[in-house]
Amino acid sequence: MKTYIVGNWKLNFTVGEASIYLHKLLRKIPNYRDVEVVVAPSTIALQPLSLQIDRHKMKLCAQNAFYRDYGAFTGETSFSQLRGMVDYVIIGHSERRYILGENDKMIAKKVAAAVRNRVRPILCIGETESERAFGETADVIRDQLTGGLSEVADDDIEKIVIAYEPVWAISSVKGAKLASPDEIGEVVKLIRRVLTDIYGAKLAEKVPVLFGGSVNASNAGAYLMIPGVNGLLVGGASLILSEFADIIEVAKKVSQ
Ligand code: PGA
Repeated sequence: MKTYIVGNWKLNFTVGEASIYLHKLLRKIPNYRDVEVVVAPSTIALQPLSLQIDRHKMKLCAQNAFYRDYGAFTGETSFSQLRGMVDYVIIGHSERRYILGENDKMIAKKVAAAVRNRVRPILCIGETESERAFGETADVIRDQLTGGLSEVADDDIEKIVIAYEPVWAISSVKGAKLASPDEIGEVVKLIRRVLTDIYGAKLAEKVPVLFGGSVNASNAGAYLMIPGVNGLLVGGASLILSEFADIIEVAKKVSQ
C-alpha cells in the first residue's frame, strides 16, 4: 500500500498564497510513486489549484462539502460541483464535529455523497481528552467508525481512507499532548478489528489508516513505523513548506 501524506491547510492562506505554496511544493518534490501526497486548501482555492496541480505528483482534497447535490442550501458546496475537480475530501474532522456541530448522521451522508460523486473520503475519527480519561475511547472509535460508514456498501469500502486523530493531540487544541506510538497502535488495531467485523478481513486490509495530531518532520518517522499506520494527516506543520516537504521525504524513506 502507498504511504499517504495529507496536508490540511484548514482556514489558512488566501487563494494567491495557496497558489504560490503549491507552485513551490511542486518544484521541490519529485514524483514519488509510493507516496500519495495530498493537499487540502480552502474551498475557494480548489478550482484554481485544480488547474495548477500536477496530479502525477500530488492530489487535491476538499476540507468539506455538503451531502445534497443541489437545492435550497444557502452557503453550501456540493460534491457534484467538486466532482472531477478534487480527488479527496476530509469528512468528520473534529473541528467540524465540535465547532460546526456535525454529527455521525450528517457525516455518513457526506461520506455517501462523496463516494457517489467519485471523491475519495478521508473519514476522521478520534476521542476527546475527557472521553479518553473516562475510558470511553474504544466506544467512541467504534461509534464514529460504524456511524460514519453506515451508508457505505461493501464494494465501496476500498474507496475510503480512515484518519485517527485524537482530539487532545491536535496542535491547535489548548494543552495539546503528543500521542505515543503505543496509544496510537492500540486504536489503529481496534479500527482494523471494527472494519474486519463489518467488511471482512480481505476488504478491511485494503483501507488505509492514517494518523493525525501534532505531526511534524521529527516525529513523522516514528508515527509511520507504527504497525497498521499507512500515512499522516498533517495540520499546522503542513503550512510550512520546508517542514511538509521534509515529512514527504521521511515517508519516502520509511516506505522503501
Ligand atoms: P495538527 O492538525 O497537525 O496541527 O495537529 C491535524 C489536524 O487537525 O488534521
